[in-house]
Amino acid sequence: MFPEISKKYFMTQDSLQAPVFHLISSTADEMGLDCYVIGGWVRDQYLHRPSNDIDVVVIGSGIELAKALKNKLGKSAHLSVFKNFGTAQIKYKDLEIEIVGARKESYDRNSRKPIVEDGTLEDDQNRRDFTINAMAFCLNGDRFGQLQDPFGGIRDLEYRIIRTPLDPSITFCDDPLRILRCVRFATQLRFNIEERTFEALSKNRDRLAIVSPERILEELNKIMASPTPSIGFYLLDKAQLLELILPELHRLKGVDVRNGKGHKDIFVHTLQVVDNVAKKSDDLWLRWAALFHDIGKFPTKRFDEKTGWTFHNHNFIGEKMIPGIFKRMKFPLNEKMRYVQKIVNLHMRPIALVEEEITDSAVRRLLFEAGDDIEDLMLLCEADITSRNEEKVKRYTQNLQEVRQKLKDIEQKDHVRNFQPPVSGNEIMETFGLAPCQEIGQIKSVIKDAILDGKIPNEYEAARQLMLETAAKLGLSPVK
Ligand code: CTP
Repeated sequence: MFPEISKKYFMTQDSLQAPVFHLISSTADEMGLDCYVIGGWVRDQYLHRPSNDIDVVVIGSGIELAKALKNKLGKSAHLSVFKNFGTAQIKYKDLEIEIVGARKESYDRNSRKPIVEDGTLEDDQNRRDFTINAMAFCLNGDRFGQLQDPFGGIRDLEYRIIRTPLDPSITFCDDPLRILRCVRFATQLRFNIEERTFEALSKNRDRLAIVSPERILEELNKIMASPTPSIGFYLLDKAQLLELILPELHRLKGVDVRNGKGHKDIFVHTLQVVDNVAKKSDDLWLRWAALFHDIGKFPTKRFDEKTGWTFHNHNFIGEKMIPGIFKRMKFPLNEKMRYVQKIVNLHMRPIALVEEEITDSAVRRLLFEAGDDIEDLMLLCEADITSRNEEKVKRYTQNLQEVRQKLKDIEQKDHVRNFQPPVSGNEIMETFGLAPCQEIGQIKSVIKDAILDGKIPNEYEAARQLMLETAAKLGLSPVK
């Protein structure tokens, strides 16, 4: 019935030939313990995704098996025992082997922490999130390599389906993080979510309240790092989860029409931009910047009888919205956040350059403000062209090409990308015998503007001369 399965099954057996599996096998046999490799590692063998995280489940004490295994592996293996959880971890070469006794779990409504009892392999498989994550290979004696697949995980892999082993509402209600894991796996693997499983996503959405923002973000980052992140965000929206997690993005949905004038659906546009960026760059933060680039369009949206829909200053408002979103979602509040803010703020500048005339001075200013992030900014700008009008796309792309060339020329000539004014604040203070004061900033900014506007070269002598002239106008004279 499934012609591909047997072939793949035997290929998977090959990956079990690594010596470490035989060592676990002989150790478990000597101790009379039934033992299986289970979960993500098994799934990933079928998907040909190499994985170094091996989960082993033992019918009995996982910790005892781990100790015996550590003794056999010797000094290069590192054992950590978590007695309270009944688990042990061995780090050996590049492998992380998690060994745990089979368990049966029951959940308290207010916590993701289950009440755990010893159980059978079946109990352990029942408590897992998805059929494709519940498969196990036996490691014992002559059953070595035998697949235990009680819920048709192989079939679901074959048909690319995400489905829960039990009633999906029980699985999601027990551990609501799985709601997001479901969307994440569908995005990473490009699988479909089975109908009842999908329905249970939104039915249990209130349960997300007990999942920590850090865990939610971890899953969102995995969605964002996928080849086509939009799949995940559309699914989150369809399952009514997006409005809970990222209301600022959800609000961008839809098209308003007034006097026959509509604007584009900014949600759809945004996701297309994210996918475009994802085709060109693996940088997670540039992808987030793409997701947030038009976030300021909701609060700034106005209708003007003459010009139609406007979103004045949406880049600036968007930049201001970022810290609030980052704080709530537990993103890092560090240079990564400032990078996203900067890209959001500057995202219209290269295109605006084209719309006016591309002057050297405007290019210098852009280079100065973007610094080393100029390449990322240009990438976002190119990704931001999502018009269906081919003529328009061609024109914009060509124009941005011109901006790129101009950026290159000016940078080669003037080196303003990481520009530091050639006269420092200290030198100004020493020259005029000043304590820290406003005038120093004024003089510095006159020099900076003169260089960026091309009035003086980016060189020390010219900058010092301008410092002396500017200071004189401010009534300051040199002390030496
Ligand atoms: N699991 C689960 N419910 C969760 C998390 C994990 O049932 N909320 C089970 C699944 O069987 C999963 C296994 O524990 O395969 C290991 O979990 P984990 O290492 O977190 O995920 P993987 O499935 O291996 O996938 P990834 O590493 O991509 O997160």
